[in-house]
Amino acid sequence: MSRLQDKVAFITGGASGMGEMMVKQFTAEGAKVIAADINTAALEEKWGGQDNIFTIKLNVTEDAEWEDAMKKAVDHFGKVDILVNNAGISTEKTVDQITIEDWRRLSDINSFGTFLGMKHASKYMKEAKKGAIVNISSYTALIGMGLNPYSASKGAVRAISKAAAAEYGHAGIRVNTVFPGVIQTPMVANLEESKAQLDILKKMTPLQRLGQPEDVGNAVLFLASDEASYITGAELVIDGGYSAR
Ligand SMILES: NC(=O)c1ccc[n+]([C@@H]2O[C@H](COP(=O)([O-])OP(=O)(O)OC[C@H]3O[C@@H](n4cnc5c(N)ncnc54)[C@H](O)[C@@H]3O)[C@@H](O)[C@H]2O)c1
Repeated sequence: MSRLQDKVAFITGGASGMGEMMVKQFTAEGAKVIAADINTAALEEKWGGQDNIFTIKLNVTEDAEWEDAMKKAVDHFGKVDILVNNAGISTEKTVDQITIEDWRRLSDINSFGTFLGMKHASKYMKEAKKGAIVNISSYTALIGMGLNPYSASKGAVRAISKAAAAEYGHAGIRVNTVFPGVIQTPMVANLEESKAQLDILKKMTPLQRLGQPEDVGNAVLFLASDEASYITGAELVIDGGYSAR
């Protein structure tokens, strides 16, 4: 039997990078997937016309949009077993460069968006008395990497995930967090970080390579599946050993 047979998974940021990979990996393991993203054109281009994938426009910072998206997802596939809070944005700005608006935007999308996802999915999961949530933080939440709003927003994801695991466990809902290192997605390709800098990062990584979207997707798939049925509040670092040095 496939690892996600009969499961319905809601994946944010499902139009690019890791989210796109997870949509592929989850459907390959038998799940029906709701791919939610603010970028509707990319959603349609990638997933239009597939019966096992339902696309939804969602800005993760909007409470009302989450309520509507969850309802549409449940109306379409009958339930939501899994939520992956993956949508996010990054910045390379240092503390001297960031504006108040930058800080608020990063925090709004990366951490408040994750909170809203848990709030709205847990409503349905509580009724079902089961569910699995996987939140995407970052290795920058664990080590001193840039005094910027990105690290702060991902640190908040770590904290609220722990709190949610403690709070939702009684309702049968598991909440786990992954901490990717540098993963080769459009997010990284769009940074100005030069190839030389990425090469240095690679050399400093014990496993001597940068991460690929499937490295993260494999871990998320495991945590979302029933194979992880006694795992909640866990923190899984997926960085080739970078933060272990
Ligand atoms: N790539 C990395 O090196 C890396 C490392 C650690 C953590 N992460 C995290 O992994 C997640 C996925 O990153 P990625 O590298 O695949 O990035 P990506 O830019 O390829 O994809 C992010 C997706 O999120 C969507 N999105 C952005 N803002 C949104 C919003 N307000 N509402 C809904 N959707 C929105 C984008 O449209 C895009 O499709 C992010 O949370 C990111 O912070 C990435």
